[in-house]
Amino acid sequence: MTSIKNLLGQVIIVVGAQWGDEGKGKLVDILSQEYDITARSAGGANAGHTIYVGNTDEDAKKFVFHLIPSGMLNEDKECVIGSGCVVHLPTLIDEIEMLKKENVSVKGRLFISDRAHLIFDYHQLIDRIQEEAKGDQKVGTTNRGIGPAYTDKSNRIGIRMGDLTNGFEAFAEKLRRNIEKHQERYGFNYDIEKEINKYKDIADFLDGMVVDTSYHLNDAIKQGKTILLEGAQGTHLDLDSGTYPFVTSSSTIAGGACAGVGIGPKKVDSVIGIVKAYTTRVGEGPFPSELEDANGEKLQDIGGEYGATTGRPRRCGWFDVPVVDYAVQVNGLTSINLTKLDVLSEFDKIRIAVKYMYKGEELKSFPANLDILENVEVEYIEMPGWNEDITEAKTFDELPINAQKYVLEIERLVGVPINFIGVGMRRDQMIVR
Ligand code: GDP
Ligand code: IMO
Ligand code: MG
Repeated sequence: MTSIKNLLGQVIIVVGAQWGDEGKGKLVDILSQEYDITARSAGGANAGHTIYVGNTDEDAKKFVFHLIPSGMLNEDKECVIGSGCVVHLPTLIDEIEMLKKENVSVKGRLFISDRAHLIFDYHQLIDRIQEEAKGDQKVGTTNRGIGPAYTDKSNRIGIRMGDLTNGFEAFAEKLRRNIEKHQERYGFNYDIEKEINKYKDIADFLDGMVVDTSYHLNDAIKQGKTILLEGAQGTHLDLDSGTYPFVTSSSTIAGGACAGVGIGPKKVDSVIGIVKAYTTRVGEGPFPSELEDANGEKLQDIGGEYGATTGRPRRCGWFDVPVVDYAVQVNGLTSINLTKLDVLSEFDKIRIAVKYMYKGEELKSFPANLDILENVEVEYIEMPGWNEDITEAKTFDELPINAQKYVLEIERLVGVPINFIGVGMRRDQMIVR
């Protein structure tokens, strides 16, 4: 075993600790060079996980994965889309084709759970209809049909991958019934037979890919293989633990990762939280440390904070300890990857939100009530910046002393070791300590 596997163990989970887009894809891509199988456990093509491959900014090639796990670029490794995911097959096929163009073959390396639910185009249509109907209460979804597909799943009328690959006539009948039901409810018109026909070719395309991935993963664990579970979205977008209703419709936390791939929690050795060195959020909902000033714009600009899925600008703010403390709590984080530290290099002074006050008292736990969260008074500490390029630092000691102090202060405040520090987009721009 190499040092990273010694540090983290055989089965590990990577989760977002804030509101998504923390940089999960980059660490997963790096770790998957050592892990045999990378498995996505939840969400669908609402995710956008960005990876840069190459040794210089000029020759770095960008990949954005929405459904395919971020381990796919390592040609000798396998990837799994678990039962907790919702899959829009045309999007998946586009991603597979994009990889083929880059000479990355998925044949025999990508497996999809027969229990994963399907997203159809009408789920995307319903997503838009529901958002419009909510008016100024809209969630700001990615319009990828995520909520409507998970609604069908929990309503027990969803259609699963196994339905598509185990006999087309029964699948077609289920799809027909489902579309009719939704047409009646939402009043749209849909070419049902055209949609059904589209899936005939898709079923052929999937030959050999749809399996019992829980069996596959548990068998791999028995054989001593290493497994990396890749979370999507972030802790505060989790359906149970997040800033409800401004959340996604799946379980995005570590417990959900086990459920979403069908392995027992006692199999997991480490839970790594991905934490941006500041905070961002895309879509609606409360954001206590948000900066609606020149500093916010500067973070957005230097950090390139635009959604990898929708292109929407991400809202930006200072690092927020209560946000990350809560992620430590609900995920049981054992290790942290602090990402995008380099983005802070041009700030003379950097602030950290350290506590929330409400009606004169400090809140000890993260509030469920959004009225409270929107009205907390945030207390900050201020730290000096380092005003120096850190993108070529290879070790912690090579970081300027003020950057080291910033990292150590966050580590002290959240109480979890920061084992990985991102100082740029590329694979080689990751300090391991
Ligand atoms: P994910 O959804 O959590 O995988 O994150 P996204 O890919 O949506 O957004 C993170 C963005 O930050 C991507 O454009 C990454 O290339 C970029 N990124 C990740 N880590 C670093 C880092 O340490 N420094 C810089 N400058 N960019 C980073
Ligand atoms: P990754 O994996 C950031 C947000 C949307 C919206 C809310 C609900 O790249 O970190 P949905 O389409 O899921 O019903 O939208 O969740 N959201 C994300 N924000 N990163 C993501 O994924 C997200 N996936 C969903 O913006 O606020
Ligand atoms: Mg993203």
